[in-house]
Amino acid sequence: MKILLLGSGAREHALARALARDPQTTELVVAPGNPGTAAIATNLNIDPCIPEEVVALATQMGADLVVVGPEAPLVAGVADAVRDAGIPCFGPSAEAARLEGSKAFAKEVMAAAGVPTAEAAVCTTEAELTAALDRFGAPYVVKEDGLAAGKGVVVTDERPVALVHGRACLSRGGRVVVEDYLDGPEASLFCVCDGATVRPLAPAQDFKRLLDDDAGPNTGGMGAYSPLPWAPADLAEQVVREVAQPVVDEMARRGTSFIGLLYCGLALTSRGLRVVEFNVRFGDPETQAVLARLTSSLPELLHAAATGRLVEAPAPTWSEQAAVDVVIAAPGYPGTVTTGGAITGVEAAEELDGVHVLHAGTGTTEHRELVATGGRVLSVVALGPTVEEARSRAYEAVGRIALDGAQYRTDIAAGR
Ligand code: GLY
Repeated sequence: MKILLLGSGAREHALARALARDPQTTELVVAPGNPGTAAIATNLNIDPCIPEEVVALATQMGADLVVVGPEAPLVAGVADAVRDAGIPCFGPSAEAARLEGSKAFAKEVMAAAGVPTAEAAVCTTEAELTAALDRFGAPYVVKEDGLAAGKGVVVTDERPVALVHGRACLSRGGRVVVEDYLDGPEASLFCVCDGATVRPLAPAQDFKRLLDDDAGPNTGGMGAYSPLPWAPADLAEQVVREVAQPVVDEMARRGTSFIGLLYCGLALTSRGLRVVEFNVRFGDPETQAVLARLTSSLPELLHAAATGRLVEAPAPTWSEQAAVDVVIAAPGYPGTVTTGGAITGVEAAEELDGVHVLHAGTGTTEHRELVATGGRVLSVVALGPTVEEARSRAYEAVGRIALDGAQYRTDIAAGR
């Protein structure tokens, strides 16, 4: 199978690794990719958000499957264009991608599908915003109604902070969503969908705040682990039954079938399961942990979804091992990032049993030295017989990597 994978983060490096290792994959091109994917696939530097460029590349290489990593190409209609060209694509249409692109649309679909979620108010004026903040009270949950790369959500006890974020959202997009706060631990469940059938992957949990003990600003995600020993054993089945299948059915009923990855961000509250948010692509950094444990064929699963044959595909299978990944970020992240810092120790980290290192914001100099080029720089992934063992291997590996001013949390998967 010839596969074109779009994206350039650690999530795409994890996807590339799982696709490349499968004997069904005969050619793997990553566009634009990163230095990590260059080692296992062919990187081609096109803009993944320009549908014509993606279709031209997929046609030229005779791709059997296009896999879209990030949300931006989906919102730009890349999956529509690829499917229109007759090439199977794992990723939803621009219309279906509104489940992530518009928090208000997601709320509307959930209401129609009877899916449990936090009560919310969609505000278009400052008066509505302040009324909603007063109605829901602290902790305040204020969400950008649009794509924000996982950084558009502010959860705070401080009303002025909530108000400033809400005003900023209003000035950018004209709408902001204020929600009821959901108590209880959060979990991420990725569901592979072909428009009708839903296949869950293994549950994971990510750590969205920059600093230990869930302090500091929200980020794209600073680490993750899978499985979740504390969660109900039937969590995946419950989420498919109560959340993913009703949403996929509702999207089909609307004529906007959901083909791709429905990422269910969930809170396991004292009142039961609630949806926090949907994303329409694999999550980052959860993918790095989830795919480290996948023992069945990823290309077969994604191709079956892209061609409407998921019902015939075998269910994914999983290693008994646990996986933990720790994100190393550049100085300044998630604000203004200092790039260009030299990175050393990646090979030494990978010498450790069960460890691999995934690239995100990295580049190489003319002297072939690895340097930081973005906010989240590396994901250090470790497998181990328990979450605790995987965690300790991951941190031993992190300790072997040097980047001046690097930021990482020391409590990823602690006490799990
Ligand atoms: N893990 C958060 C995200 O992928 O948006």
